Amino acid sequence: MKKIRIAIDGPAAAGKSTVAKIIAEKLSYIYIDTGAMYRSLTYKAIKNQVDLDNENALADLLLNTDIKLMASENGQLVFVDGTNVTNQIRGSEVTNSVSIVSKYRSVREEMVRRQKDLAKDGGIVMDGRDIGTHVIPDAELKIFLLASVDERAERRHAENISKGFPSDINKLKEEIELRDKLDSEREVAPLRKAADAIELDTTSLNINEVVDNIMHLVHERI
Ligand code: C5P
Repeated sequence: MKKIRIAIDGPAAAGKSTVAKIIAEKLSYIYIDTGAMYRSLTYKAIKNQVDLDNENALADLLLNTDIKLMASENGQLVFVDGTNVTNQIRGSEVTNSVSIVSKYRSVREEMVRRQKDLAKDGGIVMDGRDIGTHVIPDAELKIFLLASVDERAERRHAENISKGFPSDINKLKEEIELRDKLDSEREVAPLRKAADAIELDTTSLNINEVVDNIMHLVHERI
């Protein structure tokens, strides 16, 4: 069976990673969460007190940073320079700074270079903001996942509560809206639906329905 490349883009907290992981598992493909790569650099920059307004310093830091994504029984693990940072990169400090770090051209060029390399052999599900437009512009299947901001905030809130994390739904909504604004309005590779991407509004769909929709599109291509 042909091993295709699947690009899943969309705004913050639209369920991209949940869906991408399930699709990758069903197909025995590799799943690459590109947001985790930008989060990893942001985490290391904050930890090393690198000025987030200094593009050159961030680009240099990235050149000296090893980021590894590994599938495990407990979901995807993220390692920065050999240290497991899977939980740390999801904290609010990283979440609220990552869109600053990801706006810089030299940072994005290096990230995209690494991501293209990861995708080159096919059999991959990659999620992010610019996968269909810049990382794999010739992907066999491109999905743009959407959901209303209220629905996205509610999903993230429920996820936080189920994990026992403190959560304020209004604050979550504001943070999601701000991140979408920064990611959509940046100059370099802004969040955009690729012209040939298939848009899927998941506001009134559950995870299984979204997965079924995408698997149907996959089977048309393999
Ligand atoms: O997907 P996630 O919410 O973890 O992404 C975190 C941030 O990383 C996004 O808000 C965006 O600023 C950046 N990002 C990006 N391009 C990607 C993936 C993520 O700019 N392909």
